[in-house]
Amino acid sequence: MDVFEAIRWRRSVRNFSPQKIEHEKLLQILEAARIAPSSSNQQAWHFVVIDDPGIIEQIPKQVAMGTKAIIPWLKDAPVIIAGCYTKAMTHHIAKLFGHENHLVDISIAMTHIVLAATALNIGTCFVGWFNESKLKRLLNIPRKYKIAVLLALGYPADKSTDEGIGGIAPRSRKSLKEIVSYNKFGENF
Ligand SMILES: Cc1cc2nc3c(=O)[nH]c(=O)nc-3n(C[C@H](O)[C@H](O)[C@H](O)COP(=O)(O)O)c2cc1C
Repeated sequence: MDVFEAIRWRRSVRNFSPQKIEHEKLLQILEAARIAPSSSNQQAWHFVVIDDPGIIEQIPKQVAMGTKAIIPWLKDAPVIIAGCYTKAMTHHIAKLFGHENHLVDISIAMTHIVLAATALNIGTCFVGWFNESKLKRLLNIPRKYKIAVLLALGYPADKSTDEGIGGIAPRSRKSLKEIVSYNKFGENF
């Protein structure tokens, strides 16, 4: 599968089969994060791979924001990766000029993970609805790190089709015309 196919085929998969993710495939996926670009090549990230069902079960119970029912499906994910970042000196300097490079870095690495997983027929879904301080405690994450996002991974429970991984239809997207300008914002699509 080439990168364009993976991009087109990816969906948020929230319905997982109990099939475990093979260790080699997990390593392949993590390697995709390891070699991702980062500002000044700082690699100021850490990926906590959660595969202990006891901990996975705790996540929707303890960390869902607001109602506990927001992410019940998360407990069936065989693996959850917590994408964590800290700020290197260059991130602090960039911030003086208004740049949030630390967030860009972790987002790129997590996207590498998603596309690598998709190419291996492994479904993913980002989860941003969590209480960060509770989750940090649950996962023993050191003070200087923050959790940018969680990513659930697993083989889809439903059969994949040409349309999408897990047989999921694409969600609508804005047109290019709505989101692209040439040279100056709002001009000349
Ligand atoms: C940063 C981020 C946070 C998200 N948080 C959640 C979440 O907490 N729960 C959830 O079910 N989906 C979550 N999603 C998935 C989005 O709802 C989904 O990507 C979007 O609806 C588009 O659907 P698609 O991924 O199938 O194309 C999140 C996605 C991103 C990028």
